[in-house]
Amino acid sequence: MGFDQYHEPPEELPAETRTFARLCASLEEESQAIGWYQQRLAVEPDAEARAIMEDAQGEEFKHFAMDLEFLLRRTPRWRQIAAGVLFQDGDIVEHGEAAEAASEDGDGDDGRGGSAPANDGSLGIGSLKGEGQ
Ligand SMILES: [Fe+2]
Repeated sequence: MGFDQYHEPPEELPAETRTFARLCASLEEESQAIGWYQQRLAVEPDAEARAIMEDAQGEEFKHFAMDLEFLLRRTPRWRQIAAGVLFQDGDIVEHGEAAEAASEDGDGDDGRGGSAPANDGSLGIGSLKGEGQ
C-alpha cells in the first residue's frame, strides 16, 4: 500500500492522525484478506488445504477486530454509532439510522470524533438496547 493511506501531505498531519490512517489502512487490508480467504475456501476441494486457509482466515478475523477496536477507542462518535449497530438483533439499517441520529443529537459525546477514548464506558445509547459495555 505504501503511502496511499494519506490524502493530505503526511508532514502536515499530526502523529496521531498518521497512526489513525495506518490503522484504517490495516483494517482495509485485513478485510480484503478475509474476503480472499472466503473465495479460496469456496473453491478449494482439498480438506487439508481448507483447514490451513480456515486457520489463516481466523487470524485475519482477529487482526480486523483488533484494528477496529483501536479505531473505535480513538473515535468516540464512531464507537457510539458502532455500538448501536454491532451485535444487535433486528434491522441493521434501522439500528444504523437510530445510532447515527443519537450521535447527532449530542446523546453521548460531542459528535466531533475527537482522539480521546471514551473513559466512562458509557456510550450514551443504552436506551437503544439496554446493553451495558
Ligand atoms: Fe492480518
